[in-house]
This record gives sequence, C-alpha cells and structure tokens, in this order.
Amino acid sequence: MTQLISYMGTKRNLAGRVGDLVRESRPGPLLDVFSGMCAVGHSVGTSRSIWTNDVQHFAHLVANATFCSSNLAPASESLNDLCACSYEAHRASLRHKFAEELAAERLALALPSCSGYNLVFDHSIERANGLIKGAGYGSYDLFMRRFAGSYIGYEQAMDFDALRFALDVLLKNGKLCEEGHHWSILGLCVALSKCSTTTGHFAQALRPKDNTFTRFKAQRARSLRFEWLRAMEQLAPVGSRQWRASNRAFRSDVLGLLPSLTTSTRKPSVIYADPPYTADQYSRYYHIYETAVLYDYPSASGRGMYRDGRHASTFSQKSTVERSFDELIRNAAQLRADLIISYPANGLLEDSERRIPDLLRRFYKRAPQIVKIDYSHSTMGASKGSQRQAVTEILYRVNIK
Ligand SMILES: C[S@@+](CC[C@H](N)C(=O)[O-])C[C@H]1O[C@@H](n2cnc3c(N)ncnc32)[C@H](O)[C@@H]1O
Repeated sequence: MTQLISYMGTKRNLAGRVGDLVRESRPGPLLDVFSGMCAVGHSVGTSRSIWTNDVQHFAHLVANATFCSSNLAPASESLNDLCACSYEAHRASLRHKFAEELAAERLALALPSCSGYNLVFDHSIERANGLIKGAGYGSYDLFMRRFAGSYIGYEQAMDFDALRFALDVLLKNGKLCEEGHHWSILGLCVALSKCSTTTGHFAQALRPKDNTFTRFKAQRARSLRFEWLRAMEQLAPVGSRQWRASNRAFRSDVLGLLPSLTTSTRKPSVIYADPPYTADQYSRYYHIYETAVLYDYPSASGRGMYRDGRHASTFSQKSTVERSFDELIRNAAQLRADLIISYPANGLLEDSERRIPDLLRRFYKRAPQIVKIDYSHSTMGASKGSQRQAVTEILYRVNIK
C-alpha cells in the first residue's frame, strides 16, 4: 500500500532497518501499534504473525485487507462486469440531478485561465460547509455534494458515488462478500489519491492558479473509474491464507488497546511504535479517506472540509505527548513485550533523545539499544512548509528481561 498511496510519516525507507531489529527480538507476534500504511508489516513479512493497530478507519482497512483477508482482491474485470448495470444507472441519475454543476465545470475547464474554475472551487467549498450532518444519507451523492469542484472534479465525484452505489448493491444482494467490498473500497481510495488535486494529503484542496491550470486540468481529466480498475489489479494480500489467519488488525487508540491485551490469552511478543511526531493530526490530513470508507454524510468544516468528531491524537498535542509516551512504554512493559520505537530527533516530544531512553530504563530496567539514521523525508507540504526535510530518525529497542 505504501507504493499506491502517499502517506505522511510512512516508514517505507526505514522499514528494512526496523525489520532487522524485529528479527533480533523474541519470536512471536509483532504488534505494530501505529500501523498507517503498514510499511513495517510488509518488511517483516511472513516470518511471524503480524498484528496491526491504527485508530483511523482507512488505515485499519488497509491493514485488515493486507494481513487478515481470507480472500484475494476481486479481479478487476469481473468486478467491472458485476458493477456495470447499477453503476451506469446511478451515474445517469446523478448526471441529471447535477446537470447545472457539471455544465459549469465543463465550461470552466474549457477556458485558458483559471478564473472560471476558481468560482466553481469557491462555490463548492461554500456549499459543502452548508451541509447538515446526515442530510441526504442513502442518496449516494456524498462526493458530489462534499468534494466535487474542490479535491476532485464533478465527473470524478460522479464516478465515485456511482461505484460506491454499485458496490453496496452487490454487497446487499450477496454478489460481493464483505471482504470483496472492503478491497473494492480500498481501490476507490487509491483512485481518489490518483485523481485529487492535492500535495498528497487532504488538509486543503489546491485552488488552481494560472501557472498550474494546465496540470490541474490534466488531473481533472483522469478517469476515476479507470484508476479504480487499475488499483484493483494491484491490490493483493501478503502471504498465505493460513498465515493471514494468525494475524489480527485492531482499530483502537493505542493507550486503550495495550491495557486491554493484558487479559488476552494471546499476547504480542514485540511491539513496534511509530507515533505521530508533529502537531499535525492525521485525522485532518486523511479525512477524505475516512469519509470514503464510512460514507456517512458527516458535516464539513473549513476550507479543508474536515469531518466532525475526528480523532485527536494525544501524541500530536504538546500538553499530552509526554504523558502518552509514559503510558505507552509502561503498558508495553506490563505486557512483557520487547519494544521498538521510532521517533525523529526533532519530534514534538521535547528532548526526546533523553526522555525516551529514561522512560525505557524506568519501565524495562535496562538501557535501550539506539540506532540513528539520517534521512530526508517528505513533509508533503504539511505545517513545516518545505517539501523535504533532513531528519535524524532514531530507533530505540529494548528487550524484556
Ligand atoms: C507516523 S504514522 C505511522 C506510519 C506507519 N509506520 C507507516 O509506515 O505507514 C502514525 C499513525 O498513527 C495513527 N495514530 C495516531 N494517534 C494514534 C493513537 N493514539 N492510537 C492509534 N493510532 C494512532 C495515525 O492514524 C497514523 O496512521
């Protein structure tokens, strides 16, 4: 998945190093408690059971499909055939319902300057902000009303809603199993990432400028349905079905999950923790994928059109980050699991190079192994401004006595 969707803070480039530390740890299940796009699970592979956790629905869906599915992703050709009828019918009804908006967008895209599209863009954000939570539920026009004209085009949003409608019909009629439905929704998320006009996250849609308008138009011209079918060809689980049956995917706040596992008969042997390290909340950057998965007509607020009730991680708040590290490490030690943490030297937790080893010594009663890795990571234009930043990422590993 790390190849298909760009994700802030993914450890794709460090996963091999983390994988080496996991291999040197106790045998038994590895629990990746902030799994994101599961770079480390991919690197460790089938050598042990992989358990994942992430508080976000989208990240959980990625992990569950990749590591826990009993079935392969549905083949794109047969899925296309199965969907065709409901897709075409619903698309036609959306085309009728949103005829004015579709025409306005078509006109704006035919102009050489972006001024016409900027009207479409501003209007669409204003409209989305005026929507009432839950209103329209069941009419399968969520992306037309919320995100068309801003993050994606009207034609693309129409494809999204019509495909989502067709997939839900197939699920209801028993023509697609729940897992097949999940894989197909993941495919839709990949297609969104290919078609949207963003820097790789959804904190804000990019308003076109005259010097970016040609690129903007090319992005709007992409077929979301085609990207979806292409994604369906690329999505695949890891390992054998038998191995996947030994894996687990949780969707909890890590600080609730770890204590709940102390009474479980099966416990993780190794915990890998890659917490968020800035004040940027993931729920703000990836809200559109949450809405794609839940399809629940949330309210939309601000220029980014964020969902109401989104998760706020205590690891991304200055006032709570230290206490959260304390709890994380204490709970991991209580589970008697080896622990590997990755955290950059300049993360939100101040003086982390002293504080993390202090906490590890306090709860594990031994000094951690420390590996420093210099690398340049993508900020995707998040709050730090520049696109790439040189960071020293530090891996801390401690084994239980
Ligand atoms: C730095 S990213 C992890 C990236 C991942 N290692 C990868 O390679 O893709 C942090 C992840 O933690 C999740 N998260 C943030 N706070 C959390 C919490 N309190 N409990 C569980 N997950 C959380 C976010 O949704 C995000 O996916």
